[in-house]
Amino acid sequence: MYNSKVIGLGKYVPERVVTNEELTRYMDTSDEWIRERTGIEQRHWVAEGDGNTTAVMGAKAARQALERAGLKPSDIDFIVFATLSPEFFFPGSGVLLQELLEMPTVGALDVRNQCSGFVYATAVADQFIKTGMYKNVLVVGSEIQSTGLDVSTRGRGVSVIFGDGAGAMILTRTEEKKKGLLAHSLHSEGKYADQLTVKYPASSFPSQKYFEHLQQNPDETGHFPYMNGNFVFKNAVVRFQEAIAEVLQKAGMSKEDLDLLIPHQANLRISQFIQKMFGLKDHQVYNNIQKYGNTTAASIPIALTEAWEAGKIKENDIVVLAAFGSGFTWGANLIKW
Ligand code: COA
Repeated sequence: MYNSKVIGLGKYVPERVVTNEELTRYMDTSDEWIRERTGIEQRHWVAEGDGNTTAVMGAKAARQALERAGLKPSDIDFIVFATLSPEFFFPGSGVLLQELLEMPTVGALDVRNQCSGFVYATAVADQFIKTGMYKNVLVVGSEIQSTGLDVSTRGRGVSVIFGDGAGAMILTRTEEKKKGLLAHSLHSEGKYADQLTVKYPASSFPSQKYFEHLQQNPDETGHFPYMNGNFVFKNAVVRFQEAIAEVLQKAGMSKEDLDLLIPHQANLRISQFIQKMFGLKDHQVYNNIQKYGNTTAASIPIALTEAWEAGKIKENDIVVLAAFGSGFTWGANLIKW
């Protein structure tokens, strides 16, 4: 068995910055409410005509990661692309990325695990490397949330939270047994599928029928994200803790070994709660939700890239990535850098 380690990180966010103040023009909300409940000060949203799509943003992040890894697109053996906001119902964004990067006909797998997407994608990529099937795997998380949100007072409980962006990570094979990705935790609980969801149109309510229904029921909101915020919050704080504890335990470590926690940026209050539970200091938990909001599958690779750029990750550091989201799904990855 081989092991895999991170050799390149990249990120991209669209240029357009949407402040909390700007949102007050579209809905009944306030900068104070958003900051107090979520920690978010601004987010980046794609702009009409800026050329960004989910795969285009993923490609921008991937190019930066490739450059930093000293690799060409043709060196990549496999793509794992995590997103809940693909360009199309099908095919997924992974194949579009393969084309954009002018890569050879390597495999491209889309992961649809919402906020936990990048944690799942990382675990999947690691398995391909561990078994020896592939050497270099490109893992991407990219989201365009803004175009699917209900940007009105009706949707304010959800729409103020989400942002657009992309992050990328390149994993490569290593012979070192005690370095790189050492443990994963992956879980789901489908009984809460309807607590955080975009339901329609889909196979259970196909487009044509749904559009007819929408004409007769203009107040229908099934095509917008729905979130039972309080319930999600309560589950998130428990599941985050479990996932982090599980990877530490699997790696034979304790919370004292943890150097840096990169939580999925769901809500600053969730991150602060987890920090307190594990007795971590401020510099041991990386947060950037203030600038980007919740970018779903992109939030961890964006935060990981920023933390690395800021010199917060050193050789041999123990870094844990952890996420919780729609599904419910949750999990964590433990990396010895
Ligand atoms: N601006 C102003 N008021 C708002 C608002 C907004 N953007 N959104 C909701 N409100 C109002 C509600 O209508 C409600 O008013 P009411 O008391 O008159 O009915 C009040 O604020 C409280 O709403 P509530 O939903 O109970 O707030 P909350 O404290 O639970 O915070 C979240 C809402 C979404 C910030 C919070 O529940 C949360 O962060 N949940 C987890 C989110 C998450 O992690 N999601 C992603 C998982 S990956």
